[in-house]
Amino acid sequence: MSNQNIFYPSKEVISKANIKEYENTYKRSIEDLEGFWAEIAGRVDWHRKWDKVLDNSNPPFYKWFVGARTNIVHNAIDRHLTTATRNKLAYIWEGEPGDTRVFSYHAVNREVTKMANMIKSMGIKKGDIVTIYMPQIPELIFAMLACAKIGAAHSVVYAGFSAKALADRINDAQSKLLITADGGWRRGKIVDLKKIANEAAEITPLLDEMIVVKRTGHDVEMEDERDFWYHELEKEDFVHNKCETEVMDAEDMLFILYTSGTTGKPKGVKHTHGGYQVYTSFVHYAVFDIKPEDRWWCLADPGWITGHSFIVYAPLINGATTMLYEGAPTYPQPDRVWEMIEKYQVNILYTSPTAIRGFMRFGDAWVKQHDLSSLRLLGTVGEPINPEAWLWYYHIVGGGRLPIMDTWWQTETGGFMISPLPITPLKPGSATKPLFGIDADVVDEKGETVEPNEEGILVIKKPWPGMARTILGDDERFKQIYWSDFAEQGWYKTGDSARKDEDGYFWIIARIDDVLKVSGYRLGTAEVESALVSHKDVAEAAVIGLPHKLKGNAIHAYVILMHGVQETPELEKELKSHVRKEMGPIAVPEKINFVDSLPKTRSGKIMRRVLKAQALGEDPGDLSTIED
Ligand code: WTA
Repeated sequence: MSNQNIFYPSKEVISKANIKEYENTYKRSIEDLEGFWAEIAGRVDWHRKWDKVLDNSNPPFYKWFVGARTNIVHNAIDRHLTTATRNKLAYIWEGEPGDTRVFSYHAVNREVTKMANMIKSMGIKKGDIVTIYMPQIPELIFAMLACAKIGAAHSVVYAGFSAKALADRINDAQSKLLITADGGWRRGKIVDLKKIANEAAEITPLLDEMIVVKRTGHDVEMEDERDFWYHELEKEDFVHNKCETEVMDAEDMLFILYTSGTTGKPKGVKHTHGGYQVYTSFVHYAVFDIKPEDRWWCLADPGWITGHSFIVYAPLINGATTMLYEGAPTYPQPDRVWEMIEKYQVNILYTSPTAIRGFMRFGDAWVKQHDLSSLRLLGTVGEPINPEAWLWYYHIVGGGRLPIMDTWWQTETGGFMISPLPITPLKPGSATKPLFGIDADVVDEKGETVEPNEEGILVIKKPWPGMARTILGDDERFKQIYWSDFAEQGWYKTGDSARKDEDGYFWIIARIDDVLKVSGYRLGTAEVESALVSHKDVAEAAVIGLPHKLKGNAIHAYVILMHGVQETPELEKELKSHVRKEMGPIAVPEKINFVDSLPKTRSGKIMRRVLKAQALGEDPGDLSTIED
């Protein structure tokens, strides 16, 4: 290969890898897409086999495993109950205060069944969407699986979101039931989730019922008739009855997950039972080389797609043992994660560049005082990893012997898309090559493949089983956002820019739409702007991302105040706390600049790239469309 800075996997890694060959299998998978996925679909059980692998008669509304009957919970739990996996640990959980709980597959089934009976008793039926707002405790996972088991869909709202954001999502999903907890532990403090849930319930007229898990035990307000303690419901006999797993159509909705887009309204990305289970479990097996004896730790929140796919569904389908941790990764000391790896003898660690940079900041000693020899594979996701962080992860955490799986993917893709396998030679900062069945390319606006090393638009040219099916209630928007730019060719536009080098390695550069990646979290500039503008003193706002050492990007806001309002440091503080209230702590701007005007096109669109160029002292480029 051309690039000098290449890290080759050891003979040992290669000899033990689940998948030992890439090039030929990749070629075959693209040439015979349906044949390939039919074979992979054989890794899971089906109640009824499909009539057709792929229905592409109405693009972009593709259907996979058409006519097949299944339920992801059958593959994640039920089928393990008659094998040795029944007695294996599914989850090892540690709370932030240090309390621990473990669950075998047998126990997971028991817990999920209880929760499923409770949900059913609230009148929830197949096709309904249940909203879940929980800390990182095992019941979050059980609630998701319980919904899927009875054929309801879940919509998990990340516990860092505000009451308003929660209420918006409850409304969009038309949820009548919310599953939540009194609170969770974060940095030694209680996050008062029930209080936020109560506020949300006041905003939305929809909620009929809440199931509340007791985690922190602090005083919370419960409303008669509406709110039910989980531990009280547990005392009811019916909760302990057997609960059949509903047999679903492969294309039936499994979950909705809200993610940020280019407009202020978050979009509910829809995934289904059939294709998603095939795709996520396969890429997990292939990329992270999952073995029966492994202990796998994905350090994401189950409330994001990474957690949905790689804490909940894929590891369970693969019969893996998964770690789950409630709190902050550097609490009470910077070595919490390394201590837990040593204590539990974790084999595979999957985290984000932001987390890695956060660990780096505390210095090598915190890592080095722990025996991390149990680790055999590392992974990262969420944003491009800077080579400095990659090398630190490789040398300090991995001791120079562990391959790093830099997995590029999105909420919309369901699972990893561009990623190394353990056998792939690595280049720091590159997600390397597309996985099997993924026809990725870097093209210009007309759809021509750009020259090696030239920046272009990252597209996916063929459908894949784990792809999102639509945006809840808005097929048109789904079509418009992802499929309209290359409608003629029928390609999926990822929203990222990238380049491909002379070895065919992909280098993801950044988002090309108005979406920011802040600490790996996905935020729309429009969402933050509308939160700012909802404050009485703000007339207009523009938001950009500027490079930040730890967060990757940090939010910088430009605000025009209402006539006669004084710009003061107090007002900046107040606006920040206003955004926190409207959206949650992850959306709070790093800096708010008060300005008199904003650069706009003649049609009135804010030119964020001009603001950004100015902030960075760069050339703003073509200004011919600017108004003022
Ligand atoms: C970015 C997270 C570079 C990218 C799973 C993508 C990455 C967005 C990587 C999706 C990576 C994710 N290298 N960039 N390995 N992984 N991204 O929906 O911009 O929260 O479009 O899904 O994260 O973010 P989302």
